[in-house]
Amino acid sequence: MKATAQAPSNIAFIKYWGKKDEKLRLPLNSSFSMNLSGLRTTTTVEFSPKYKKDQVIIDSRINSHQTNRVIEHLDRIRKRAKIEYFAKVVSENNFPQSTGLSSSASGFAALTLAGAKAAGLRLGEKELTVLSRLASGSSCRSIPEGFVLWKKGSSHKSSYAYSIFPPKYFDIIDIVVVLSDKKKETSSSEGQRRVSTSPFFERRTRNAENRLKKLIKSVEDRDFGKFGHLVEQDALEMYAVMLTSQPPLIYWHPESLRMINLVNMWKQEGLQSYFTFNTGQDMHIICKPGLLNKLKKRINRLEFVKKVIISSPSKGAKSISKHLF
Ligand code: PMV
Repeated sequence: MKATAQAPSNIAFIKYWGKKDEKLRLPLNSSFSMNLSGLRTTTTVEFSPKYKKDQVIIDSRINSHQTNRVIEHLDRIRKRAKIEYFAKVVSENNFPQSTGLSSSASGFAALTLAGAKAAGLRLGEKELTVLSRLASGSSCRSIPEGFVLWKKGSSHKSSYAYSIFPPKYFDIIDIVVVLSDKKKETSSSEGQRRVSTSPFFERRTRNAENRLKKLIKSVEDRDFGKFGHLVEQDALEMYAVMLTSQPPLIYWHPESLRMINLVNMWKQEGLQSYFTFNTGQDMHIICKPGLLNKLKKRINRLEFVKKVIISSPSKGAKSISKHLF
């Protein structure tokens, strides 16, 4: 009853921001993302009578702020598998947690796959995405491969994620520019609860649905310019909702704004690159592979940049045989 899985984080091009059902994590709008090859979580789960309570070790620490959420998810898995054993969970991220790089997406996708397998459940991809969604909305998009759509749906079973294009279909690069190691002060779950306090949230939800169709078409046509423009528009509209929520959510740091200005300047020089953000200060720059080295050189010259992580579109969550314990 031991299993291990590895899952990528993902970056949303059309963002999920706001829920219509808090408990089921049903989103206000459908969202679309790409899995990231450079940001991964590996998780081993074992259910066994030898454990007298659940043990959760994330990045070698026992007291992670995610522990309760992990145990709640183990409960969902136990209930479904009709088992009562406690579990040991060991999880490792190859990037910093809770700074806005979506460790909850890769973390809960890996936990869902490893946990379901360790509990003896035989779930198909769609069912795995539905189960993972209950733990963390964006994690459902880290299970299928490549470019993934999370259909908002109107009920538990109709809100699931699936791959629209395989990783190789659209040749783009995501450069994460890490600007600070500081953990964010407001979690995205809390931030999402504030959505309806913004005067703009209904408008953004409507715009996001319309933009989604255009964005998928731009990927289908491999029209990078159109795609990048829509990606920036969606990120900025999500931030407009964040900034106008009560109390306001300001995830950006001064360096995040400096980076926005730089990317805009680079664009004017002909370096075609586009930015987006998750709930956090770090920027994701999207470019074509041919521009990567030039952009990397420029980014590495900036004294306020802590780290750069490069990703290409990646496969989804997978089981692996090498356990962490
Ligand atoms: O799944 P959560 O609660 O971590 O929310 C993710 C929110 C964003 O990253 C801002 C958008 C998204 O769709 O990933």
